[in-house]
Amino acid sequence: MKLRLLVLTALLSAGITGAAPSAPVTISPAIIPQPQSMQVSPGQPGFCLKNGIKVHYKVSRSKLGSAAVRALMAAGLPMLPEENTGELTVEIVPHDNPEWHSIRVSPEGIELKIASEKALPAAAQTLAQSVVKSADGSPALPCMQVQDAPLLPYRGLMLDPCRHPLTVDETRKMLRLMARYKLNRLHWHLADDQGWRIEIKSYPRLTEVGSHRAETPTLANHEIGDGRPTAPFYFTQEQVRDIVAYANSLGITVIPEIEVPGHSSAAIAAYPELGNSDIPGYAPRVATTWGVLPYTYAPKPETMQFLERVFAEVCELFPRAEFIHIGGDEAPRDQWQHSPYVQQFMQQQGMRHAGQVQHWFTHRMAELLARHDRRLVGWDEIIDDGAVPANAVVMYWRSWVRPCSLKRALSSGLDVIQSPDSHFYFNFCQGKLPDDPRYKPHGSLTAEQDWRHVYSYNPIPADISPEQRRHLIGLQANCWSESIADGHKLEYQCVPRICALAEVAWRPAELRNADEFLQRVLAHYPWFDEQNINYRREDGSPAK
Ligand code: ACM
Repeated sequence: MKLRLLVLTALLSAGITGAAPSAPVTISPAIIPQPQSMQVSPGQPGFCLKNGIKVHYKVSRSKLGSAAVRALMAAGLPMLPEENTGELTVEIVPHDNPEWHSIRVSPEGIELKIASEKALPAAAQTLAQSVVKSADGSPALPCMQVQDAPLLPYRGLMLDPCRHPLTVDETRKMLRLMARYKLNRLHWHLADDQGWRIEIKSYPRLTEVGSHRAETPTLANHEIGDGRPTAPFYFTQEQVRDIVAYANSLGITVIPEIEVPGHSSAAIAAYPELGNSDIPGYAPRVATTWGVLPYTYAPKPETMQFLERVFAEVCELFPRAEFIHIGGDEAPRDQWQHSPYVQQFMQQQGMRHAGQVQHWFTHRMAELLARHDRRLVGWDEIIDDGAVPANAVVMYWRSWVRPCSLKRALSSGLDVIQSPDSHFYFNFCQGKLPDDPRYKPHGSLTAEQDWRHVYSYNPIPADISPEQRRHLIGLQANCWSESIADGHKLEYQCVPRICALAEVAWRPAELRNADEFLQRVLAHYPWFDEQNINYRREDGSPAK
């Protein structure tokens, strides 16, 4: 009896134990993406944030409580985790969506119910977006009840530091922006024809040779080089670990991409023996032009040894990445057709056309990654030349190809992440341009995709089966950087389109309304300003 009383006292003292209410809260928060259900009690006192959020030490020292405190802190909420009284409770409630959560805010405190720890980053961002000024000007959370869960589990953005550098600080700023809107995957494009951007200890020439180039196409005219050698640019392993850990603290997993077998000129310039070195005129170098380059890896034992070692280091640097991206797009076959070595290899393997060489690479890479317990992701070309392993993931981008590669992947029973260039290429033009040469769009890629166009996408086609629906695991925007020389322009390209992407990936199409969404976006301008983000205003002008 005495023992039961003691347990009861301990539980109560770790729960919500009273706080001073805020002055009345009259502002209703504008949340992006819009939660499934949200009731706010306007005009009433809310939860006062002036003195922080007290967390009973028994809560913050529990596994779940400490995860909640970390998520709330990372979202910018003022946490006091070592108190004798408490204003936060966290509880696991079974639900089939691991990101499902419910939030109840009262003047006394915050009650979180979550399906799993995976729900914490989004719940924390809803709270962070809900901070408003109460009637006396101090920060408060309104009394509210929220229930929410995303439509799709993978919500990503691809950044390309290969064509133009993107520094650690610029990358961290993009991660904060992604986290704010509940995107949870950074697809980091780390190797391409124009540069190799990640330190690999077992192959130092990748960065000694591959991380700089003789010149860069000018922004004004992509047909003309600027004549200026670039400085070496790559992320050291220490910087990679720093970015991965920072992303992790914000609930974002970083998915690295190393291109195989095409888009590999920088690697082949560093180690020419990896390419088709027996073709006439073979002279690999780090590319100084944009577009599709002819250099591809040769299917040789030394290439496979190289890929084994590179991907072993990559897997170690990205321990939480369940997927590793191998590129696979736009791999020309000409060099394979002209290489006596590859022709003989094809004959030995019983291959009838050079596309089967790419297919061979995809299978070897899937086997390699399976040994590290990771799944392969590739651009949708990976399904063009035959079946791929059942656990491979297809990143759908070629909206113009018929038959549609999204449908082909689904009918093969493969998981798909959708990033069609018809809607989610954030390097594409958004319509009216600022009167500033820095904002010139990419050469021929002038398709207009403003946020309304992004918002109009329905990621769940009406004509698919419930089984196929389960294979639609994600949505992603890609921001290639041929025309994006720095973080300033990157922000202009991504904001507010990133808000539209987030809502498309979170909320069913039939519940979305673009005009109502715009009102919420406008309410986020002060946050963009506070973060010094160069967003695109409604009239097309840059904010900074
Ligand atoms: C791509 O845009 N080449 C995937």
